Amino acid sequence: MLRTRLSNVGLWRSYYTSSLSRVPRAPPDKVLGLSEHFKREKSAKKIDLTVGIYKDAWGKVTTFPSVVKAQKLIESHLELNNNLSYLPITGTKEFQENVLNFLFRESCPQFGPFYLAHDRVSFVQTLSGTGALAVAAKFLALFISKDIWIPDPSWANHKNIFQNNGFENIHRYSYYKDGQVDIDGWIEQLKTFAYTRQSENNKNPPCIILHACCHNPTGLDPTKEQWKKIIDTIYDLKMVPIVDMAYQGLESGDMLRDAYLMRLCLDVEKYPNWSNGLFLCQSFAKNMGLYGERVGSLSVVTPATTNNRNSNLPQQINPLQQNIDSQLKKIVRGMYSSPPGYGSRVVNVVLSNAKLKQQWFKDVDFMVQRLHYVRKEMFDRLGWPALINFAQQHGMFYYTKFSPKQVDTLRNQYFVYLTGDGRLSLSGVNDSNIDYLCEALEAVSKMSELA
Ligand SMILES: Cc1ncc(COP(=O)(O)O)c(C=O)c1O
Repeated sequence: MLRTRLSNVGLWRSYYTSSLSRVPRAPPDKVLGLSEHFKREKSAKKIDLTVGIYKDAWGKVTTFPSVVKAQKLIESHLELNNNLSYLPITGTKEFQENVLNFLFRESCPQFGPFYLAHDRVSFVQTLSGTGALAVAAKFLALFISKDIWIPDPSWANHKNIFQNNGFENIHRYSYYKDGQVDIDGWIEQLKTFAYTRQSENNKNPPCIILHACCHNPTGLDPTKEQWKKIIDTIYDLKMVPIVDMAYQGLESGDMLRDAYLMRLCLDVEKYPNWSNGLFLCQSFAKNMGLYGERVGSLSVVTPATTNNRNSNLPQQINPLQQNIDSQLKKIVRGMYSSPPGYGSRVVNVVLSNAKLKQQWFKDVDFMVQRLHYVRKEMFDRLGWPALINFAQQHGMFYYTKFSPKQVDTLRNQYFVYLTGDGRLSLSGVNDSNIDYLCEALEAVSKMSELA
């Protein structure tokens, strides 16, 4: 009897061991995996142009002057600093008020306040932009849709986040063609899909990711006119927009101006009711340099209900928003319980202090001016016109369109690291490496002409 039991335990153990041993190796992260490789690179000539982190003219990751001042204020005010307790599940009231004020009143002054006044924005303080996307994905997959359209190309993590959080169908829309935004291909694909869905009587609304500005990896954004065409289409097809605003300020250096896509989507005269909501995922990683502090937000703009539709009077209670709030809270509680405190305190100090906010706007503009300088200097050496197409090329990234073989050659022969899709982070370029870098880029670009 005892022997049988023991042998059962043995069987049981081997069953578990073999289950774990069946776990396949996941591929290394396309960006962070390369950084690890770079650290091990021995050549003194090595240049890391992989990660989207701003570095100054000396190649250093710096803290913005506005953030340094905010940190000092936090250090010197015990009441700001001495509470290490848990934050509420969806963040503090103060953070919510500061960020909503910044996003919906200052960045979208014409229509943003209307949504706030009608209690039509559900809000969560998130683990930066990635966390905002993950919470949005979980919510959408549970209640709205398991279909998502992602640009091709896009930030590699988009697919990963939506797949990990319950999305079953990942579609790619053509974004980039011959150095231009493929506006016609993009719209055509969405319409064809919608007609097929209609003929199948499938009423699930698909979601769509829109990069608000500084598209990653191409750096190429639609013009305002192109955005209008796209948003008209998305609205007519009743799709659910997920606006990914990871780089507000890095397009023009003007924080408020860069919220153009949000201003357009919130235009109640053009788009009176996003029937399945509009999801804004926002990050302070890049525009406040708070990368590791993981601070950002998710705002869900809810549709008008019979309660608040056609009314200009603020409603005291919007039950739809309350239901959505409650579900977002439940999702966060099960995912990571509550957000971290320090980064959000820095954001609170910067956003609530007029002088610091002004300094922050200047800091962002300074960063963008340096990126423009790098583009011009590279253009002088390489003569590649897209580098200085300032009307449409924005942000930290330049898309070389190099093949994987060219990217490998750059890495193996010249010790210059780009991401596998040929994306180059301009902030890693400075006066001490620009000549060598441009020689390497030129040599590798010619390699393709001979091939
Ligand atoms: C397009 C895009 N969305 C979202 C993010 C999220 O960044 P984080 O989670 O650091 O805020 C990034 C970061 O690189 C990005 O490029």
